[in-house]
Amino acid sequence: MSNTSWNHTTTSDEVATTLSSHIRGKTILVTGISPDGLGLDFCRAIAPHSPALLILAARNPEKISASQTYLANLFPSLPLKPLVVDLSSLSSVRSAAAEINDSVEKVDVLVNNAAMHAHTLSRSVDGIEMSFATNHLGHFLLTNLLLNGAMKNGGRVVNVTSNSFRRGGIVWDDPNFLNTPFGEGWEAYSQSKTSNVLFSAALAEKFGSKGVYSYSLHPGLINTAMAKKMDMDDFAVRFNVNLQWKSFAQGTATHVVAAFDPAIEPQNGQFLADCQVKPVTGDEAAWATGKENWERLWKLSEDFVKEEFP
Ligand SMILES: NC(=O)c1ccc[n+]([C@@H]2O[C@H](COP(=O)([O-])OP(=O)(O)OC[C@H]3O[C@@H](n4cnc5c(N)ncnc54)[C@H](OP(=O)(O)O)[C@@H]3O)[C@@H](O)[C@H]2O)c1
Repeated sequence: MSNTSWNHTTTSDEVATTLSSHIRGKTILVTGISPDGLGLDFCRAIAPHSPALLILAARNPEKISASQTYLANLFPSLPLKPLVVDLSSLSSVRSAAAEINDSVEKVDVLVNNAAMHAHTLSRSVDGIEMSFATNHLGHFLLTNLLLNGAMKNGGRVVNVTSNSFRRGGIVWDDPNFLNTPFGEGWEAYSQSKTSNVLFSAALAEKFGSKGVYSYSLHPGLINTAMAKKMDMDDFAVRFNVNLQWKSFAQGTATHVVAAFDPAIEPQNGQFLADCQVKPVTGDEAAWATGKENWERLWKLSEDFVKEEFP
């Protein structure tokens, strides 16, 4: 259990200060570090605590450069490494993983933070529905390739999900939306975000004995680039959600807990929100928990990426 006083108002700066000794000396790879996003704010919060190296991964080199400049201005001696990766492209993910495995001795923490919400049906270069390709399959492949390389001795894998996983699970009979109506993409987004939750459970079960710890988390509602692209009033009405906004630093506090807090190790594989482990219960437990679900997703993911990861 993490610090019981931490909650939805706690900031990443507060958590990072408490966990400073667990950040020091670590190499951390974060996906989706564009300006105006949670990935970069997570980096900002942990940067003062002397990580060995921050690997900044995103698809757009100009955005990586802008984020790198932002961090370098705040923390001139912070070791940074840019990593261009398009998570929707299996070949791009393979190249990026090879680059890290060849050039970095060890990654201690992988934060799979990047995501997108496809509002219309579109497919990746590999012919896969875009939300599933980007949010889950790219991270599935990246993680497994690193677990065979720079993370072969274990480490933490954080999968940033969203409470959207509570609205629906994997569309098992048509995960690639070949025949299923796509609408505005909410079913596909929920599918990808359920996958993030199941992926953490799978990693804990399959690799926990080898020193792999994995957690999924919901950051809360934060006015990032992704949120700005959505009509949040419509979202609130459609899903009967009370819009309780968090600041960026409140939004990334749970990232820091999931990435570094040793107190949650006994709860390997679990979901977190508001800085606390919150086991998934309710109707959504039927699709977002359980060995049958994560084993089935693992096999489905191997089929899509055309590689087995026993
Ligand atoms: N903000 C919220 O209220 C909220 C709520 C629940 C969950 N979340 C989760 O929090 C995480 C961070 O989201 P955010 O709100 O910070 O959104 P964001 O600012 O849009 O950040 C998402 C990041 O993912 C990157 N990305 C998208 N497609 C990619 C691809 N194909 N390859 C590589 N990178 C790609 C984006 O790059 P570009 O800049 O190039 O697009 C960006 O860097 C996501 O997992 C999201 O689901 C956020």
